[in-house]
Amino acid sequence: ILGPGDEPFVLDLGAPAAPVRVPTTRRYLMCPPEHFTVEYAINPWMDPTQPISTELAMAQWTALKDAYERLGHKVEVIEPQPGLPDMVFAANSGTVIDGRVLGSRFRAEQRAAEADHFRRWFQTNGYHGVVMPERTNEAEGDFAWTGTLLLAGTGFRTDPAAHAEAQEVLGVPVVSLQLVDPRYYHLDVALVVLDDQSPNPLVAYYPDAFSAGSQQVLRRLFPDAVIATGTDAACLGLNAVSDGRHVLLPVEATDLAAQLTARGFEPVFVDISELRKSGGGPKCCTMELRG
Ligand code: ARG
Repeated sequence: ILGPGDEPFVLDLGAPAAPVRVPTTRRYLMCPPEHFTVEYAINPWMDPTQPISTELAMAQWTALKDAYERLGHKVEVIEPQPGLPDMVFAANSGTVIDGRVLGSRFRAEQRAAEADHFRRWFQTNGYHGVVMPERTNEAEGDFAWTGTLLLAGTGFRTDPAAHAEAQEVLGVPVVSLQLVDPRYYHLDVALVVLDDQSPNPLVAYYPDAFSAGSQQVLRRLFPDAVIATGTDAACLGLNAVSDGRHVLLPVEATDLAAQLTARGFEPVFVDISELRKSGGGPKCCTMELRG
């Protein structure tokens, strides 16, 4: 009880504390960029006339792999193939959920042969019943698993009919999202799942990469989402990989990193400047093997 002249006592709780983020150990499949070049252009990032250093790409890829291993994750490696310069982007070659594998079918003829190399990798590494899709399907390039839903991009690469196919084969609910900006031609350059272990999954995304209707869907599904800026998106900052706590992302994505830190995540910066010349970043290089 306050007497006359007493200062009222106010309990200052400050800003709400960020939740404690708990990482879970992951298993990834990666392909070293031994044959990496940019010799054709199938997205606006690719310019076959600009010089490419395969050696630098290799060093950046190795640093990414080392970062995963330092965090305690397991990295499997598939043999790169001459004549397939984009094979480093392993995320495009399979969607694995609960040990079920849906392979890929590329839109561009130049990448078509990658799908079969990965199919063989799955078959010789204990994955039985691999299903190869009928429709154009660029796998984790356009599919993002939130732990409860499979978000599925379309507009540039993956055929919307492949979304229905994924739902049947993987037995998970699929939500289709329409991509509208050619720079963000895959879902994984416009959206990243940050927390896939909770009943309320958390994502970050760049709204302008999506149609108006898909933006509404994202707002409904993820009212608490981290909203990335145009600057974050333009360095491929959303092409990130989260283990639930650590988020590996391009070193230029500083605004996004600050938002992640405020939400309790730990950004881990990687330099992917050379791979970005092909339109790829950390996530493109990383297929997650779930179960
Ligand atoms: N040059 C490749 C392509 O256009 C880059 C693929 C990047 N992968 C990704 N998951 N976004 O197909």
